[in-house]
Amino acid sequence: MSQPHPSHEEPSLADFLFPDGDDPLVPPEGFSHWMESNAWALSMMEPELQGAVGPRGKIRRGGKVTEVVNLSSYNYLGLATHPEVLAAAKEALETYGTGGCGSPLLSGMNALHAELQSKLAEWLGREDAMLFNSGFGGGMGSLAGILRKGDVAILDQKCHLCLLDGAKLSKARLAFFDHNDPNSLDEVLAQYEGKRRLVVLEGVYSMDGDTADLEALLPVAEKHGVHVFIDEAHSILAYGEKGRGLAYAHRDQIPLQYATFSKSFAHGGGFVAGPRQTLRYMRYYTNGYGFSCTLPPVVVGGILKGLEVATRDDTLRDTLWANTRYFRERAAGMGLNVGEGQSQVVPIIIGDDRRALFEMTREMNDRGLFLAPVDYPSVPMDGLRYRVAITAAHTQADLDQALNILEDVVVPHMKRA
Ligand SMILES: Cc1ncc(COP(=O)(O)O)c(C=O)c1O
Repeated sequence: MSQPHPSHEEPSLADFLFPDGDDPLVPPEGFSHWMESNAWALSMMEPELQGAVGPRGKIRRGGKVTEVVNLSSYNYLGLATHPEVLAAAKEALETYGTGGCGSPLLSGMNALHAELQSKLAEWLGREDAMLFNSGFGGGMGSLAGILRKGDVAILDQKCHLCLLDGAKLSKARLAFFDHNDPNSLDEVLAQYEGKRRLVVLEGVYSMDGDTADLEALLPVAEKHGVHVFIDEAHSILAYGEKGRGLAYAHRDQIPLQYATFSKSFAHGGGFVAGPRQTLRYMRYYTNGYGFSCTLPPVVVGGILKGLEVATRDDTLRDTLWANTRYFRERAAGMGLNVGEGQSQVVPIIIGDDRRALFEMTREMNDRGLFLAPVDYPSVPMDGLRYRVAITAAHTQADLDQALNILEDVVVPHMKRA
């Protein structure tokens, strides 16, 4: 959760949410000034890769094209350019054409969608699975589909915005517990005793790279007789037996397992897996499902092959974890603050110096490292950071080049700070 913005500081994106004029098409006056005075920093945003997502590539950023090691794409298992996945996607394209051209309830499903749903359900030991055409939309829609006014959505305070937005859309009361803290969860659950409640967690927290402490949290939810919903966007295909996610070992206590196809699957969209009766209801009451076109078949064909490639053995996961350990150990050894987690999502927390965050982004980019800056209010004001995505496709040479650049640019800054 973001911290309140102290008024004596420079303005930030947290300050322009509310309008100061009559016309909703005209952004608040201060926003335009802020954009202009921050142009130097914002030129690092929306960089353009000049080819496929991979461990290296060319990037257009700040008006320049540079060859970079890419530590910013969620292609955790390297499936984005896997030859078998590409071949399957091409075949799906040729067989099924470009789009689903209809909502799943009325006309958009084809044999590939049905196959993916049943394969996911079987793989995860669930009764059913349903697909969403957006990762964000699926997380949001899942909560909006089942929660109602009068219910209480109890979120870990570090949950992703899609979960927050879903709970808001549902009109349920929003409550937060301290990140991964079972005592705090216990207190919040007790506070809303007697209400319909749902605990909402993430597998790997996307800004900190740590995992949900299921051993500590699940007994608390169980004590209160409350079910748990988990978003495994970053943990599916990475964690759990053959990549089945963190929830797999706790299926009874986590009836609904949500994940996106945009990270390890290297496609787009998402799915929720769980009890047949719950999903049957959700199909009719999740508007982003029933009133939105299905995933393009070319995407479904690629996802199906990605599932097969990533689950037939642990080769890609073993490489991902070896790379992650190597990077984390070397980065921490240099004195970088890589947070508490152990996952392939590695924050490099630099503190509150926003100018340094963006200036170092540019310098590293010029030297050949693509890192994305994460600014307030996405993270706390004193926890500005880069967020590294390690993949199985990186070689040690890629990681060494990236680490050398971090050592030349960020380590001296941290020593001065
Ligand atoms: C935890 C979590 N859930 C959902 C999403 C949304 O997924 P997508 O990018 O596929 O829309 C993200 C995106 O980063 C995420 O980190």
